[in-house]
Amino acid sequence: MEEDYLYHLLEQMTIDEKIGQLLQLATPFFKGSSTKGQITGPMKEMGVTEEVVENAGSVLGASGAKEISNIQKKHLESNRLGIPLLMMSDIVHGFKTIFPIPLAIGCSWDLELARHAAEIAAKEAAVSGIHVTFAPMVDLVRDPRWGRVMESTGEDPYLNGLFAKAQVHGFQGNDLTDTKRVAACVKHFAAYGAVEGGRDYNTVDMSEWQLRESYLPAYKMALDAGCEMVMTAFTTMNGIPASGNRTLMRKILREEWGFDGVVISDWGALKELIPHGVAEDEKEAALKALQSGVDIEMMTLCYTSHLKELVATGEIEEQLIDESVMRILKLKNKLGLFENPLRGANETLEKDIVFSAPHREVARQLATKASVLLKNDDVLPLSQDQKVALIGPFADNHDVLGQWSWLGSKEDAVTLKEGLETQLKSENLNVAKGCDVESRDERESKIALQIAREADVIILALGEHSWMSGEAGSRTNIKLPKAQLNLLNDLKQLNKPIVVVLFNGRPLDLMDVTEKADAILEAWYPGSEAGNALADLLFGNVNPSGKLTMSFPRAVGQIPTYYNHYNTGRPKGAPDAQERYVSQYLDSSNGPLFPFGFGLSYTSFEYKDAHLSSNIMKQNETIRLSVKVENIGEVIGEEVVQFYIRDLTGEVIRPLKELKGFERITLQPGEQKEITFTITEKQLRYYHSDLSYKSDKGKFMAYVGSNSQDVLAVPFQLM
Ligand code: IFM
Repeated sequence: MEEDYLYHLLEQMTIDEKIGQLLQLATPFFKGSSTKGQITGPMKEMGVTEEVVENAGSVLGASGAKEISNIQKKHLESNRLGIPLLMMSDIVHGFKTIFPIPLAIGCSWDLELARHAAEIAAKEAAVSGIHVTFAPMVDLVRDPRWGRVMESTGEDPYLNGLFAKAQVHGFQGNDLTDTKRVAACVKHFAAYGAVEGGRDYNTVDMSEWQLRESYLPAYKMALDAGCEMVMTAFTTMNGIPASGNRTLMRKILREEWGFDGVVISDWGALKELIPHGVAEDEKEAALKALQSGVDIEMMTLCYTSHLKELVATGEIEEQLIDESVMRILKLKNKLGLFENPLRGANETLEKDIVFSAPHREVARQLATKASVLLKNDDVLPLSQDQKVALIGPFADNHDVLGQWSWLGSKEDAVTLKEGLETQLKSENLNVAKGCDVESRDERESKIALQIAREADVIILALGEHSWMSGEAGSRTNIKLPKAQLNLLNDLKQLNKPIVVVLFNGRPLDLMDVTEKADAILEAWYPGSEAGNALADLLFGNVNPSGKLTMSFPRAVGQIPTYYNHYNTGRPKGAPDAQERYVSQYLDSSNGPLFPFGFGLSYTSFEYKDAHLSSNIMKQNETIRLSVKVENIGEVIGEEVVQFYIRDLTGEVIRPLKELKGFERITLQPGEQKEITFTITEKQLRYYHSDLSYKSDKGKFMAYVGSNSQDVLAVPFQLM
């Protein structure tokens, strides 16, 4: 459709019809819906009239070619101007083929596979009738108490940005008229991940310097990759809720970044301006949100009930509404909905494509790359002639998909037991639950001890229920539940090797587990192919290669624990440091239990000969950092070679290390490769106290290594 037609359409629209486009309602409101759809927020009586539904612009959480086509057809019968609905849903880590949770995808450090997974998710969603996914979620996370860390790719701004870009490309491809793609919506703008105390929906307060330095880059990278939509955060930013925050939306997003796509509020967030205490009523909430730049309100009627009146009294210019409507119509047009309102929805393709074997194969591959081997005292990999006791609440548990996998079927997900059965003869595998996730079960515990006594090795599958993380899944205690730690203690008495496999959506406090387990494999929630992928890893068919993208603290009291922190004026470990008056905890070391970038393999990699092409770099030049990496073990392995920089003296304080590049390499036993990273002046830029973004002449350190702590260092100078 020519864009002129859209303006022509706008001219014909009544004010009610225009305001209708700014409303998103959940599936059950629409004629033709047969299911409740995806409900991800409070659903109180809203008082929605038939006319309001007929004018609404978009649907939240519908799925399935048949249902979505029905809704669209019914809508077009009653919508006066025949404006099609946009179908939006949360396709976060897969549609029906569920990939590992995003935090785990981050740990794969495999951008191409992440892109491919998003492409598959888009394809399954698109043939099932969906047009827009509420993903990627790129919120930077430093606090594992927050349940939504499972939705992010981690604590590094640059890495999150790269994953954001990869996922946007995967979802959208190059052309949204391709009916196997969906539009992406980056969320949650901005800095939702910085909630105080890790409590969901809580206050966010930070300097604009910190916001720009650490939190904004990933949203920007998603938008630079062409992401069509932005969702606001539930949280405040420096005293103003994100959904009524002009600085965030008008100044940064629209004016500075030139974003001209659609901004949608989160579920109910407009009305939440009232309890936040910045709007007296829905009318004021509508006024503030529209003026600040929210185009679509999700599941509230603030715009619907009050914008007309606000225009009539002159408090809002109709032009502002027109601009929002045009952005929405343009998106509908880009998706080809005016010509083809049913777009990709296709029941036949849906049957063929959704949850197909090739898609599941990619899920399996990604799950193997996303799991992180945290400890291995020569127990893994297992051999098929060992007698295995598989114990724990996750031994044969289908709760392996993680939150935001609403269309994934748990029943179809492969459990750890089912995976191990493909590797072991039945006489070599005994299974017992041992305890429930949160409670002891005496009978089960006896059986577990019995089978453990007869085994050569114990695989202990522990973790959190998936609902213990995700939205509104904050916790103050991030240890494993007591019942599980007790089970571990009991089994430890048997003096058998114990391999702990963890299913969880956040970094846990693993101090107790680390002491007692001989090996720990962090599986996260691996998705539909969980058991198969984990069996591949445990038996060494695939060598673990995942690396953490979020630090694991030693204790909850250390939080936030992140690698790219600042030095302080009294750093611990400085040559002239005093015993006491340094920045430290008296009862714990400062560093994490497992640092950012950490992950073991069944082989070992030696790093040597790190050097620069020159130790002096002029402003317009680049220099190269090279390192030799050798596989000094006996099996083929993949390694993520990581490159960090530290600016030793800045106009403002600078992080101890910042990730600037990485490469995933495969090495045969005995093989050596030289890896080279280019250092550019652009990589040395940072936000100064006046918020200018530039580099300064001076001294730097380049680091290269296998994680953020084990690195080789080479100094250089920018002239
Ligand atoms: O996309 C989500 C968001 O992340 C949390 N609240 C509900 C939205 C729609 O389901």
